[in-house]
Amino acid sequence: MSTWTPDSWRKFPIKQHPTYTDQEHLKQVEATLASYPPLVFAGEVNRLKSELAKVAEGKAFLLQGGDCAESFADFNAKNIRDTFKILLQMNVVMMYAGQKPVVKVGRMAGQFAKPRSKDTETINGVELPSYRGDIINDLAFTPESRIPDPERMIKAYNQSVATMNLLRAFARGGLADLHQVHKWNLDFILKSQAGARYQDLTERIDDAMAFMKACGIDSDNASELKETILYTSHEALLLHYEEALTRKDSFSGDWYDCSAHMLWIGDRTRQPDGAHVEYLRGVKNPVGVKAGPSTNPDDLIKLLDTLNPENEAGRMNVIVRMGAGNLGDKLPELIRAVQREGKNVLWSSDPMHGNTYQTDNGYKTRFFDNVLQEVKEFFQIHQSEGTVAGGIHLEMTGRDVTECVGGAQQITEENLEDRYHTFCDPRLNGEQALELSFLIADTLKAASKG
Ligand code: PEP
Ligand code: CO
Repeated sequence: MSTWTPDSWRKFPIKQHPTYTDQEHLKQVEATLASYPPLVFAGEVNRLKSELAKVAEGKAFLLQGGDCAESFADFNAKNIRDTFKILLQMNVVMMYAGQKPVVKVGRMAGQFAKPRSKDTETINGVELPSYRGDIINDLAFTPESRIPDPERMIKAYNQSVATMNLLRAFARGGLADLHQVHKWNLDFILKSQAGARYQDLTERIDDAMAFMKACGIDSDNASELKETILYTSHEALLLHYEEALTRKDSFSGDWYDCSAHMLWIGDRTRQPDGAHVEYLRGVKNPVGVKAGPSTNPDDLIKLLDTLNPENEAGRMNVIVRMGAGNLGDKLPELIRAVQREGKNVLWSSDPMHGNTYQTDNGYKTRFFDNVLQEVKEFFQIHQSEGTVAGGIHLEMTGRDVTECVGGAQQITEENLEDRYHTFCDPRLNGEQALELSFLIADTLKAASKG
């Protein structure tokens, strides 16, 4: 294999990448980003990798979630806090039932670039380049808005830094204290069945905390009770941005992509000899690979060989996104190939991207029941193969949006227009996300009872 450098991807075929018209401007932006501080540090990335290795062994569970696409317009503290809170709620629901730690990874602080199924979009006979995420171009349907602008990378970086700063403050500054569990329930969720079930759980946690306090263990002497870690992740799609934030760790001499703790490769850019795989093979971060219905066992093994030649534990996360009803046909052969080759893999389920459809009134949505169904199939197949269903990967928000059909609020296709705010794919709202976490919790509980 040829020598890797942070820019060696440039010699490989690349998909889903913008072409900037002003190359000089692009170079200036890259140089500016390369001079800025990293968002994460190698030590944190290594810690996540060792936690993910435990997930792959079945000793912990991975919860990865956040917006489909972060946006400049929706950037504010409340949105970040609400997503953080719902992740904490899901965390305790699953941790309590499964009796094992939950590793939390946000699709946050860098999840801006989007792969698109078509290069152009046509509205009323007008054809324009597709929107590719705020880090590349603008959603407004005008020719100027859709021109890729390198300056957007600087804005995305700054927004990511501020988001990361707030997440670190939330994680360590008291909001994540387990004595606050009942305060995480978001107002609109309180009324729902999942909210009531959560309220019930908080009472049991309060009892457990009171008991531990009587034993002499509380937030003052056990920092695990008052602090948490929320790692960050995004799709490593825009390689100009990723390359500019690639840094060499001065202790080990290894390269890290310091734009996030974990990066993943999308279903459309996972060609084993393509630029995205070339870039990610050289950095030490944990790496996810989406596996859609067209992933075949040979390609998957080739990808694992290229991205993880030393078969390091905690490095590879295969994120299965095949759509409800399809896993039975496709997933067992992938699992068997991985087992046969003795590859270390953390399997997680993205029940979102294989279940998207367009309504007659023009909304991209998903049936919540299909999301639940895909998760169930994922757990069942791992159980019958004797392998570990390690985690879940979701597009979700703490907000009370109406983007996915169904759930306890019984959102219909007609309701979608009420609060459809996503910049790209439909997210679970806080209530749907909590409901899903109870389903997973029940499965984890059954498994832990063996
Ligand atoms: C995504 O996770 O936002 C995404 C585009 O997924 P996929 O590559 O699986 O389609
Ligand atoms: Co998406």
